[in-house]
Amino acid sequence: MSRTILITGASSGFGQASARLFAESGWQLLLLARRKDRLDQLIDSLRQVGCDQLMHTIASDIREPDQWQSALDQRPAGMQHIDILLNNAGLAAGLSLAHEADLDDWHRMIDTNVTGLVDITRFVLPGMVERNQGHIINMGSVAGNWPYPSGNVYGATKAFVKQFTNNLKADLIGTGVRVSNIEPGLAETEFSQVRFAGDQNKADAVYQGTTPLSAEDIAEIVMWIASRPAHVNINAVEVMPVCQSFDAFRIDRSGSLSDLT
Ligand SMILES: NC(=O)c1ccc[n+]([C@@H]2O[C@H](COP(=O)([O-])OP(=O)(O)OC[C@H]3O[C@@H](n4cnc5c(N)ncnc54)[C@H](OP(=O)(O)O)[C@@H]3O)[C@@H](O)[C@H]2O)c1
Repeated sequence: MSRTILITGASSGFGQASARLFAESGWQLLLLARRKDRLDQLIDSLRQVGCDQLMHTIASDIREPDQWQSALDQRPAGMQHIDILLNNAGLAAGLSLAHEADLDDWHRMIDTNVTGLVDITRFVLPGMVERNQGHIINMGSVAGNWPYPSGNVYGATKAFVKQFTNNLKADLIGTGVRVSNIEPGLAETEFSQVRFAGDQNKADAVYQGTTPLSAEDIAEIVMWIASRPAHVNINAVEVMPVCQSFDAFRIDRSGSLSDLT
């Protein structure tokens, strides 16, 4: 029987590359994102390379559970069992210091990266537990492990995803359901265009002079995690390009704080 993967954020970047890789391996696809035209194009291009399995789009905002729940309830009969949920839809919005950041950006990240991810996990998980089989693969980030200036709420949402993954693992003991977190570093997708609200120059500057991870690099990690033997649970994979590393603690040497007691 064909297996089914539900990918959120399948219209671009990691989600789209993962959809391609899983389709080429015969998986049935349930693809969720807001841009339906992108999802349709993706399916068309997969059909052209000979993928003839069930593929179904859910054009919805992950922040609108009523919308995607009714769409998921009406998914094709051959896709009733969701074997993998790839919780990938997400974004960084803005790159500002906390005291200057746009509160709407913060809410958008929390609503998408945290609340959306939690809602769809809660929707899919009971079926997996009932069947004693399934895999939740979450898209975290190095930003959930390591702080950086102006990473404030984005990093915090990914720290949530990491701990949610670990706590799901705790709850799923005694079941065959697996749960994993992927924690990528610098990767070139539409991520920076979104972060900088379409400012292509700012987005390009993020990758200038680097060899970043590609969406395909991450898709291969998703596939590797998913294709381990059923008794193996990959808890987390943190991955950076070779050109990325850590920085030292920062120390303010201006002397401007010398009168603090
Ligand atoms: N690129 C990086 O450097 C990097 C590093 C670490 C982690 N990540 C994480 O990896 C994940 C994928 O990012 P990416 O790099 O592939 O970026 P991307 O190219 O911008 O893709 C993001 C995907 O998420 C979808 N999405 C965003 N908001 C959504 C919403 N409200 N409802 C439904 N879908 C939504 C987008 O689809 P629509 O716009 O069509 O809805 C798109 O398909 C994100 O969670 C991101 O935080 C990225």
